[in-house]
Amino acid sequence: MLNPIKLLNKNFLSSLDMSAEEIFHILEIAKDFKNKDLNIELKDKVLGLIFDKSSTRTRVSFQVAMSRLGGTTVDLNPTTSQIERGEPIRDTARVLSRYCDVLAIRTFKQSDLEEYAKWSSKPVINALTDNEHPCQALADFMTIKEEFIDFKNVVLTFIGDGNNVANSLILCGALLDVEVRIACPRGYEPKSSIIDKAREIYRDKSLLKITNDPITAVQGANVLYTDVWSSMGEENQKEEKDKDFLGFTIDQNLVNNADKDAIILHCLPAYRAKEITDEVIESNKSRIFEQAENRMHVQQALLSSLLS
Ligand code: CP
Ligand code: NVA
Repeated sequence: MLNPIKLLNKNFLSSLDMSAEEIFHILEIAKDFKNKDLNIELKDKVLGLIFDKSSTRTRVSFQVAMSRLGGTTVDLNPTTSQIERGEPIRDTARVLSRYCDVLAIRTFKQSDLEEYAKWSSKPVINALTDNEHPCQALADFMTIKEEFIDFKNVVLTFIGDGNNVANSLILCGALLDVEVRIACPRGYEPKSSIIDKAREIYRDKSLLKITNDPITAVQGANVLYTDVWSSMGEENQKEEKDKDFLGFTIDQNLVNNADKDAIILHCLPAYRAKEITDEVIESNKSRIFEQAENRMHVQQALLSSLLS
């Protein structure tokens, strides 16, 4: 059994804010929390939640994680606080960090999240931006580790939009030395800055593959992962994206082309019959609900590390 370690970075704004060693440590502590082998008290500590976008899993898993640690949460609804009125982030961040011990923020622009972190005297956690979803990636790799024990020879194929979820998977995968393949329609590839950064981390190993062909991308893959085609904030592109992503659904045919012991992941919420079929979500290969549960365990590990 391990104890939380002090993380080198004050904030968790990107998957890149942790080293590989720190990620492994977080995953181990998360396992101990899950097995109820670890009892950390964060009594009197307060987590502030600022969510500019909807959320079920992230919001509730942070609330329950904090409550399991003996701390409390303040859910700041931007529409009923002065955030909606346009109070500058630098003022909000300076005030809230005098009340709270840590802030988890879900917003649109990564630069807004960085602005909060710049002015907050307390740690800031990325609870999803348009760029990244690093807490999700921690839960995803915890779920993969539960299945395959370690990451050696694991091939993770993400089929869908080169979006925030894909970006964090790519970066976290690179840190953990996992082969990551992205299959997306032409024009929906992840940003080149993310690809370049991952390739720099992998050094001379070519473990990141980007393709427009889902069938070849899943050959021999151990994990098939997808996310919605249109993310929050892209509602007006839905019709166009639904057309562009035809052929990128995780269905039984695609699953049959992967490794026979492959598992299926989805960060949720899902649009069934779009990016994934009902049959696949409900199949015995799906670890989607374990993955959702693991959000809570990794966030317990994250909070106790940031606040220890
Ligand atoms: N996966 C995830 O972040 O879900 P929510 O949008 O419900 O928080
Ligand atoms: N890519 C999705 C993830 C939701 C958890 C979005 O940003 O809406």
